[in-house]
Amino acid sequence: MAEHFTKSAARNIFYGGSIFFLVVFALLTVHSHFYIKNVSTDESTLTEAVARGKHVWERHSCINCHALLGEGAYFAPELGNVWVRYGGRENAEGARMGLKAWMRAQPTGVAGRRQMPQFNLTEQELDDLIDFLEWTSRIDTLGWPPNDAG
Ligand code: HEC
Repeated sequence: MAEHFTKSAARNIFYGGSIFFLVVFALLTVHSHFYIKNVSTDESTLTEAVARGKHVWERHSCINCHALLGEGAYFAPELGNVWVRYGGRENAEGARMGLKAWMRAQPTGVAGRRQMPQFNLTEQELDDLIDFLEWTSRIDTLGWPPNDAG
């Protein structure tokens, strides 16, 4: 082996290393894509209502205050697990009613407490939105968020 780096050795390490890690990056991207599609989400329960609910979520920019599975703003509670926190796994009807009542009761006007606006959502929009939140709560996030409060 040469005692010193030659220019061509340095170049080969640079190009070789760059190509190697680009390939690793591409493979990880493909792996993530298939993992999300086939393992961590349940396509069979991805109904029209869930898709409509996502549109309600987007139309009203809930993410400007809330986080969903860690992504978004941290002004208001994490909502990726709100269905579970409202007891949806044990009592789906109760959780649905609780979430609707919560959203209809905003803003609370309690002094010193952060406020959520009133969105005047229709019954259908609320149901779709809750279907979306329920579906989201079933995504396998490998334990995220680490505690109930998100
Ligand atoms: C302007 C900021 C803001 C926006 C936009 C917003 N929220 Fe909120 N939301 C809040 C705040 C603040 C709280 C907590 C209020 C409290 O605890 O009194 C909250 C609480 C909630 C809760 C109860 C969470 C819990 O853990 O009890 C739900 C459900 C919720 N929001 C849903 C939504 C949905 C759905 C949208 C979009 C249609 C939305 N929010 C948009 C500020 C916002």
